[in-house]
Amino acid sequence: MIVGVLKEARAGESRVSATPVTVEQIRKLGYEVVVDPGAGVASSFADSAYEAAGATIGDAAAADVVLGVNAPSPAQLDGVRAEATVIALFSPAFDPEMVEALGRRPFTALSMDAVPRISRAQSMDVLSSMANIAGYRAVVEAAHEFGRFFTGQVTAAGKVPPAKVLVAGAGVAGLAAIGASGSLGAIVRATDPRPEVAEQVRSLGGEYLSIESPEAEVSATGYAKEMGDDYKAREVELYASQSREVDIVITTALIPGRPAPKLITAEMVAGMKPGSVIVDMAAANGGNVEGTVKGEKVVTENGVTIIGYTDLAGRLPAQASQLYGTNLVNLLKLMTPDQDAQLVLDWDDPVQRSITVVREGELAWPAPPVQVSAAPAPAASAQPAPQQQPEKAPMTARQRFGGVAFGALALFLAAAFAPPALLPRVTVFVLAIVIGYYVIGHVHHALHTPLMSVTNAISGIIVVGAMLQIGHSTSTAVMVLSFVAILLATINIVGGFAVTRRMLGMFSRS
Ligand code: NAI
Repeated sequence: MIVGVLKEARAGESRVSATPVTVEQIRKLGYEVVVDPGAGVASSFADSAYEAAGATIGDAAAADVVLGVNAPSPAQLDGVRAEATVIALFSPAFDPEMVEALGRRPFTALSMDAVPRISRAQSMDVLSSMANIAGYRAVVEAAHEFGRFFTGQVTAAGKVPPAKVLVAGAGVAGLAAIGASGSLGAIVRATDPRPEVAEQVRSLGGEYLSIESPEAEVSATGYAKEMGDDYKAREVELYASQSREVDIVITTALIPGRPAPKLITAEMVAGMKPGSVIVDMAAANGGNVEGTVKGEKVVTENGVTIIGYTDLAGRLPAQASQLYGTNLVNLLKLMTPDQDAQLVLDWDDPVQRSITVVREGELAWPAPPVQVSAAPAPAASAQPAPQQQPEKAPMTARQRFGGVAFGALALFLAAAFAPPALLPRVTVFVLAIVIGYYVIGHVHHALHTPLMSVTNAISGIIVVGAMLQIGHSTSTAVMVLSFVAILLATINIVGGFAVTRRMLGMFSRS
């Protein structure tokens, strides 16, 4: 079979559905590839680069499998053969006219934006790929409009405070925006009604602003639901106070199947500092901000810039084409099980069923809903599932009392019968264990490795102590113990330095 790569017909579209790299991957599945002349020019991929990757330049619409980013134009669809399969972003959920028009065509149409958000389909999830790029680009757009540094600096000409960024909605785009703003040096805060994202926000260096409401609950689907009045009232307070304080607001809030929730009112915008920037990523869906103009940049009377661009991913065309193309390659791999250039549509596969809008001229939209779960999928392996560890039950009052009584008795016996020199040492030892347990237990997991390598100082003390013992003791047991202590502590010191060096190497330029 031949795979065709269309030149995008939609005005202003800069992406292309295959790059020279993905053309090579498609060819590895046995397919020949034909690319429309000039298809990749807007993404900086020349025809010669496609030819070098093994494609031919010709009429892509006449191929067996036709790839596009947006829905092809009617003229392009007229050139598609009856037995062909067209794969593009048809947006069937939002465009009933498109579904109807496709239903009149004889071929098979698959829509990449209908890939369900399930673990198995992640490698084909175009919406996540594009949202990730768009979140990053939203920060670049904001930085471009913002007349100051993102990072704080101390210069000879004075101190510059870091910019404060608020990200509303910590889904795919929001997390990308948090990461990009943090990398530029800004102070980043984020909020989301799904409390389970708090850890992800923190792991990217952001501060999670939680809205204490019984309605904010862990989502079973990975998507938020429409929030009730209590949550909305508290949310208004948070956005009102934050918008007065921050310099940049990036809104990404989305509830599937609903218009975008309005989070930032005109009054809040009026209260923002002049020069502040808002990027409303939900502009295409009605916007999260009052005053957003879809596809435009506007400046309010008080000097706040509101960006409502709907083509943020397309503003990084080479990157967006590469990720979109890779998502398509992963779909082609799924649909070419024998790697023999034969595309097979498996009707029983929920992913393939979900994306099918038309099958051989028969309208197949909408597909039955796929059970989406935010819980991690079980590992696909032939090995038996590991035994579930029973959750540790908290101690009962009786057990706690028993523990305290045992400790007191041990202390009494040690005080009564141990040699006098031993008691202060045992006390210091026990206290060190208790304090160490609580201090280290409260250090963030991400900092455990550097913490451990820095606690080399303790090993240093052990080495010095053990050397003194070896020098002064005549007991063989003490000498053996001291030797073992010196050996282990030295291994710990050398290992700690090796780990630290390796970690520093990860951050240094080669
Ligand atoms: P997502 O579903 O992964 O994330 C949306 C997040 O919004 C979820 O975490 C959800 O819990 C949260 N949310 C819902 N209600 C909220 C509220 N009241 N306050 C705060 N957070 C709330 O969606 P994804 O993929 O990250 O996309 C985000 C938005 O970006 C969508 O509107 C999407 O259409 C848009 N987008 C825009 C692009 C552009 O060029 N402008 C490109 C790609 C995506």
